Amino acid sequence: MTRKLEKFVDQLPAINTIKPLEVKNKRAFYEIKMEEFTQKLHRDLEPTRLWGYNRQFPGPMFDVNKGEPIDVKWMNNLPGKHLLPLDESIIHHEPEVRTVTHLHGSETRSDSDGYPEAWFTKDFKQVGPFFKREIYHYPNRQRAATLWYHDHAMGITRLNVYAGLVGMYIIRDQEERRLKLPTGDYEIPLIIADRSFNEDGSLFYPSQPNNPSRNLPNPSIVPFFLGDTILVNGKVWPYMEVEPKKYRFRVLNASNTRGYQLYLDSGQSFYQIGTDGGLLPRTVKLDKLVMEPAERADLIIDFSKYEGKSIILKNDLGSNPDPNDETFDVMQFRVTKTLTKEDTSKIPKRLSTIPSLKTGMVAGYRNLKLIESNDPLGRPMPLLNNKKWEDPVTEKPRLGTTEIWSFINTMPFTHPIHIHLIQFQILDRRPFDLDFYNKTGQIRYTGPARPPEPNERGLKDTVAAPAGEVTRVIVRFGPYSGQYVWHCHILEHEDHDMMRPFIVRE
Ligand code: C2O
Ligand code: CU
Ligand code: CU
Repeated sequence: MTRKLEKFVDQLPAINTIKPLEVKNKRAFYEIKMEEFTQKLHRDLEPTRLWGYNRQFPGPMFDVNKGEPIDVKWMNNLPGKHLLPLDESIIHHEPEVRTVTHLHGSETRSDSDGYPEAWFTKDFKQVGPFFKREIYHYPNRQRAATLWYHDHAMGITRLNVYAGLVGMYIIRDQEERRLKLPTGDYEIPLIIADRSFNEDGSLFYPSQPNNPSRNLPNPSIVPFFLGDTILVNGKVWPYMEVEPKKYRFRVLNASNTRGYQLYLDSGQSFYQIGTDGGLLPRTVKLDKLVMEPAERADLIIDFSKYEGKSIILKNDLGSNPDPNDETFDVMQFRVTKTLTKEDTSKIPKRLSTIPSLKTGMVAGYRNLKLIESNDPLGRPMPLLNNKKWEDPVTEKPRLGTTEIWSFINTMPFTHPIHIHLIQFQILDRRPFDLDFYNKTGQIRYTGPARPPEPNERGLKDTVAAPAGEVTRVIVRFGPYSGQYVWHCHILEHEDHDMMRPFIVRE
């Protein structure tokens, strides 16, 4: 789709930090406008029309301290017509340009969580049935973590996010500061997302059903979307000049569907110190990092032995990639800057203590099937427990109690499952016989349960649930009651009802 774009010709953009509009009684107040604008995404691409927070893609970064709550007024200043094609794949018919912002990974009251039906249009003229307030409140009581904010409007999240409505949100605390990790100019957010472009530089997103060229089952909802171009911080295949020292990278996979298997072509290992919900218990040395949509990884890369070299951050496409697929590259590091001062940062072995939820009482177990179903026209549609969005709420844990949720993936590919409000711990994954399941509807295990990967042994809000496996997580529901959602974070799935409400009961 996109004509061939040269790689590593644009510098990685720095992401600016947003400043509060005012600070009243120690409470910072921010305003963010969602607007349409154009931005140059590659040297040889015409400027691209986008939607962004404060006219930026990605949006400005929040950088806040634990214990310091903030208020944000999210304003919809978008034009009256959607940037991307709306078509019959929109199954929730509401105003075209509706938005609502969710702070992914945050412990937030439900009235500020960005519930999909809490959407609003320009100047709040029309609002969804769950709309509660114009100004969102973020308590920032949780530990230091790399969170992100993005659009979550009912039925069109995939289009709003694809148009550019994403940004990063960092919470810091004392525990993390004590570790002497690389900081300042040596702490860099990397927001990775794939896109495709039309000849004129505009975003390409498939419009169904009249796009047989994309090889989608036709007619069908857009079942997934893989862009042919990789962007980091809003530039196509950028490069970054670095000093020969350690850097901390806060990596976010903000893609609609695409998962990544990241590695460095220098063959060097790197170190993961944090995941979705903050620091890991101990540093994990990695050669390859798997990142499903919405997952975050806090990494340290040491460039000290690579002075003068170029290193490419690669994406492993597996053994038989399509020869036209260019997404095996992500970005390039050039170790060409001179060392300004001696590197005194550390890669500590031990990072944090995370009390295990396993030792406490478990109040409930839920078997949750990820299951292929059909929409009323007989088109395939992945659902959760065979339920649609409109079906009555079935998951109602009690506030303060702990439950084990088993995601039983009966489909042939991985789904990244995300739960709002909380950070969970992964218990294990266990393979079962998919063929047998498809014939009988019964689970027959084919092997023992595997513990989570070492880099998953922290707090997570999104978990990869692989095909033909039961993935179990343990969750303590709190600190707030109210109505939230859990869903697949492949945005094409989420929009087509692979999303369910849940209620934390008082
Ligand atoms: Cu990142 Cu419900 O979303
Ligand atoms: Cu979320
Ligand atoms: Cu999915």
